[in-house]
Amino acid sequence: MADDAKPAGPDLTKGVALSDLADGGMLVGHVGGDEILLARRGSEVFAVGSHCSHYHGPLAEGLLVGDTVRCPWHHACFSLRTGEPLHPPALSPIDCWSVEQRGGKAFVKEKQAAKPARASRPPRCCGARTTRAASSC
Ligand code: FES
Repeated sequence: MADDAKPAGPDLTKGVALSDLADGGMLVGHVGGDEILLARRGSEVFAVGSHCSHYHGPLAEGLLVGDTVRCPWHHACFSLRTGEPLHPPALSPIDCWSVEQRGGKAFVKEKQAAKPARASRPPRCCGARTTRAASSC
């Protein structure tokens, strides 16, 4: 049963060596029972829920573009800073956690408060030009 399943990857509260997470790299770990995607862009490290809010696509298999991640299944795009969906078909945000860097490691800390949904806005483009869906931005 899924309830008995062990969370994926390392315990991210214990820290991940930055040397094990290349610039542009992603890895899946956990904090408690939450599966988390850790992503690095330059000197910044982001922690967000590892599954898409649309149909639970595995974001670690998607594309990291700037400070966004694009779902591999239907190309929804999320901000790694806020979890906000920037491009459909996802309409709901993904969770975000704070990350502290010290001693050459990244430690995932507490879950961030959910951002209030915006009323209405046009979709923003992630800037990816590697897929057919992205070219329609
Ligand atoms: S499952 Fe991610 S966009 Fe559909």
